[in-house]
Amino acid sequence: MSGTLRISICDPNETTRENLKKYLIGMEQIWLEADCSRYEFFTEIVSQTTPDVAIIDIDSNDEKAMQLVEKIAKTYPDTGIIVVSCRTDGQMILRAMRAGAREFLTSPVQIDELVGSLDRVASTSDGKQRSNAGSIISVAGASGGVGNTSIAVNLAVALAARPDRSVVLIDLDLALGDADVFLDMIPDYTLLDVAQNISRLDLALLRKSLTKHESGVYLLPRPVQIEDISSISNEDFKRVLGLLKASFTHLVIDLSKSYSRLDIAALEASKHILLLTQLDLPCLRNVVRLLSSLEVYEGVNEKIHVVVNRAGLDKTQISSAKAEETIDREIFWRIPNNYPVISECRNNGVPLLQNAKNAAITHSICELAEKLSGESPAEDEAAVDKKDKKSWLKFLGK
Ligand SMILES: Nc1ncnc2c1ncn2[C@@H]1O[C@H](COP(=O)(O)OP(=O)(O)OP(=O)(O)O)[C@@H](O)[C@H]1O
Ligand SMILES: [Mg+2]
Repeated sequence: MSGTLRISICDPNETTRENLKKYLIGMEQIWLEADCSRYEFFTEIVSQTTPDVAIIDIDSNDEKAMQLVEKIAKTYPDTGIIVVSCRTDGQMILRAMRAGAREFLTSPVQIDELVGSLDRVASTSDGKQRSNAGSIISVAGASGGVGNTSIAVNLAVALAARPDRSVVLIDLDLALGDADVFLDMIPDYTLLDVAQNISRLDLALLRKSLTKHESGVYLLPRPVQIEDISSISNEDFKRVLGLLKASFTHLVIDLSKSYSRLDIAALEASKHILLLTQLDLPCLRNVVRLLSSLEVYEGVNEKIHVVVNRAGLDKTQISSAKAEETIDREIFWRIPNNYPVISECRNNGVPLLQNAKNAAITHSICELAEKLSGESPAEDEAAVDKKDKKSWLKFLGK
C-alpha cells in the first residue's frame, strides 16, 4: 500500500467521531488504523499502531486532550497531530500548536479542509513529500481549437487505464465545453450542482452524482445554462476540488481559453499544467504572453509544461528548436498530428484508447500520462532564463 497514509483518531463524542470516520473511510490512499473513544487509551493505541497522523478532537475535555497532544508529540515525533475543535479562538489554536499539533481543524470538519490538513501533515511528517490527495492536471491552451479537449479527455482515459488509479475529468470550459460529447455521455449533474450542494455532499454522494464512462473516467461536465456560470463561486469551486482530491487519485481539468477566475483557481491548485500550443506564430506568441502573465500567481509558472499538439502537421510549421528559442522554454512533450483518427473519435464519442489503440497519437498520450504520474513538477521544470525579448518575426527570418 505504498503512498497510503495511516491514521488513528481519538474523539469521545460518538457523533463527531463517526462523522470523521465516514470521511476518512471514503478517501483514496487513507488507511484508518484505529478509532478511540477515550483520551486515556489513545497513547497506548498510538504506540501500537504508530500512525502517520493522529487526529484528536479536544472538545470533550480540552485539558485532558491537550495533555494527550503534548505527550504524543513528545513520545512519537513521527506522528503528525491534527487537533479538531469547535472553538476557534486564537488562544485555543495557540495552545494546540504549542502542545505539538501540526494542524488545527474547526469542527464540524469540512472534507476539503481535512484533505488539505492531511496533505500538509503527510508532506512534512517524514520529509518524503508523500501526498495522499489526488493530483490535479490542468490542460490549458494557447489558442482556441488547439486541442485542449481532445488531449484532456484522452489523457484522462489513459490515466484511468490502470486499475490502481481513479480519475475524474472536469470540464471547466463553462460556456462551450464539450467533454461530454467526446465521451458520448449525458450526465445527470453538472459542476454547478456539485458546487451549489458542496456543504451537503459526502464522498459517497459525490461519486453517485458523477457519471462514469466505460473507460473508468468519471465526468463532471460544465453547467447546462450559460447564465449559471456566474453562480459558481471561487470558494465553492475550491471546495469541489478538495472533495474530488479526496476521492480520486487524478483530476484532469479541461480549462477554458478565457483564463477566468475559476481557470486561475484550477491552475493554482494543479500539480501539473499542460500548456498546449501548435507550432505557429499566433500560438507561440500567446505562450510567451501567458507565461509572462501567469507569473503573478505564485508557483504557477514552475508547474507549466509546454506541450506541442499536432506536431508534424505540415511543412509550414515552425521548427521545435525555433519554438523553444522563442518561448525560452523547453518543449515538454509532442503529440503527433492525426486528424482522421482524432476526429473520428470525437464524432463517435469514443476515446482513442478504445478506437485507435495502436495509433502513434494514442501511444504518445499514454506515455504522457505515465510521465505525469511518475514525476514531480520540480524534476521536469524547464529552465526559464529571462533573456531579452525577441522580435516576433526575427526568428522566422523576416
Ligand atoms: N493531435 C491532433 N491531430 C489532429 N487533429 C487534432 C489533434 N488534436 C486535436 N485535433 C483537432 O483539432 C480540433 C480542435 O480540437 P479540440 O476541440 O480538442 O480543441 P480545443 O482546444 O478544446 O477547442 P476549443 O478552444 O473550441 O475548446 C478538432 O477538430 C480535433 O479533432
Ligand atoms: Mg475544448
